[in-house]
Amino acid sequence: LADRPLAGKKVLVTAGGTVERIDPVRYLTNDSSGKMGFAVAEAARELGAEVTVIAARTSAPKPAGVELVKVESALELREEVLSRYAFADVAVMAAAVADYRPLRQEEQKIKKTGDTLTLELVKNPDILQELGERKNGQLLIGFAAETENVEANARGKLKRKHCDLLVANDVSAEGAGFGTDTNIITIYGSDGSSLPLPLVSKREAALRLMRLAAEKLGPAAKG
Ligand code: C5P
Repeated sequence: LADRPLAGKKVLVTAGGTVERIDPVRYLTNDSSGKMGFAVAEAARELGAEVTVIAARTSAPKPAGVELVKVESALELREEVLSRYAFADVAVMAAAVADYRPLRQEEQKIKKTGDTLTLELVKNPDILQELGERKNGQLLIGFAAETENVEANARGKLKRKHCDLLVANDVSAEGAGFGTDTNIITIYGSDGSSLPLPLVSKREAALRLMRLAAEKLGPAAKG
């Protein structure tokens, strides 16, 4: 059990960047590769967990030994996550969920007519926030990509979204953020703790995070 501290636990992970359709051939997305989410999924599996990954658009190799559910949009990701959340011991929201989606998804390709085109966007639901509000014993872990005031922003999100742990990522630092194989993170805890990890591989960062999750979960968690 010592090196499989997540044995018997169900871990739900989101990964990748959501794809928000404009019309049948166009969409809005972001630079997320899915590497960090996939690394978390593999780390959780290595530590003994039963893992489900809800993956939006990714470019990283798929994680082995986990259930993989593919989605496109934030709304689809939300559905898949919410339907599984009640059964999870740990939920890790590593996906880069688009803050906005096009108000209308056109059924036909938009024609090139006027000299300007206005795309109206509407806010997506904050899935992590919803998970925080309906928490029922799960250990909830959020991610935050920041470019400034990392600690203040991270602690704000941790609290607002009712997370137990929040992984802050200074995406402006060399060797951190989207697409890289390494990361520089600090893991903030709802107990006021902070665990800074210097430049490490995403695999190592993920293992540290999942070991910390196992400690927080303790032996008395849902089985
Ligand atoms: O507020 P911000 O987008 O920086 O928060 C990042 C965290 O919130 C990530 O864990 C991300 O997966 C989650 N999130 C979400 N739904 C959104 C936006 C972000 O679950 N609409």
